[in-house]
Amino acid sequence: AQVAQAEFVKSSVRTEDCPSDGLPEFALVGRSNVGKSSLLNSLVRRKKLALTSKTPADFCVSIIPLMTAIFEADDSASICVLGKTQCINHFRINDSWYLVDLPGYGYAAAPRELRTDWDKFTKDYFLNRSTLVSVFLLIDASIPAKPIDLEYASWLGQNQIPMTLVFTKCDKRKKKKNGGKRPEENLNDFQELIQGFFQTAPPWIMTSSVTNQGRDEILLHMAQLRNY
Ligand code: GTP
Ligand code: MG
Repeated sequence: AQVAQAEFVKSSVRTEDCPSDGLPEFALVGRSNVGKSSLLNSLVRRKKLALTSKTPADFCVSIIPLMTAIFEADDSASICVLGKTQCINHFRINDSWYLVDLPGYGYAAAPRELRTDWDKFTKDYFLNRSTLVSVFLLIDASIPAKPIDLEYASWLGQNQIPMTLVFTKCDKRKKKKNGGKRPEENLNDFQELIQGFFQTAPPWIMTSSVTNQGRDEILLHMAQLRNY
C-alpha cells in the first residue's frame, strides 16, 4: 500500500469543480495548524507536495486570479478568508485514487461570516461528493480536546459521514501549558467525549509527521477501505 507516484491535480472551489474521473478519494480535514499538510507530505514521502504553513491555505494563494474570475462569474463561489482562497486540493496517488487536502477550520482570525461560508463549502463537499470513501479527521493529540473539534466530529457523526480519526503530533512530549497530559491521555479523552455521536466508534490511528509514526497504518487502512 505504498505511494509510488503522487501528483497535484487541481484546486477546486466547489464540489462540482472537483475531478470527475470517478476515482475513490480520502479527505484530510482538521483544525487549522493540526498538521494536515505535514501528514499528506509524510504519506507521500515528500517535503513539499502540499505546502505546510503557519497561516492557513497559503497553497491556494497561487490560484487567486482564477478565483477572482469565478468570483465575478458566480457570487456563490466566493470562498475567501483574509484574501486567501480556501479550496479543495486534489492529489492523485498511483494514478488510481486521490488524497484531498481541505482548508483548516477554526482559524481564529477569520471573520465570522466567512467562517460560515467555509462551513457551507466543506459540508457541501462531505454531503455530495459521491467518490469520497472516508473523511480522515485530524485531531492534535498534543493538546486537550477543543470544542470546535468536538463540534466537527459531532456533525460528521450525525450526518453519518464515514470517518477515521487521525491523532497528530504524537511525538510531542507533555507540557505544563498543554494541561500536562501525554498524547495517549488526550486521545483517550477525545474518544470518550465523542462516543455519543457515533453508532460504532470510528477507527483511529496515532501519527507523527516528525517520526512518520502511523504512515503505513494509514496507507493500509486506505487500501482496505478502497477494496470494500
Ligand atoms: P493549515 O494549512 O494552516 O490549515 O495547517 P495544516 O493543518 O496543514 O498544518 P501544517 O501541516 O502546516 O503544520 C502546522 C505546524 O505543526 C507546522 O509548524 C508543523 O511543523 C507542525 N507539525 C505538523 N505535524 C507535526 C507532527 O507530527 N509533530 C510535530 N511535533 N509538529 C508537527
Ligand atoms: Mg495546510
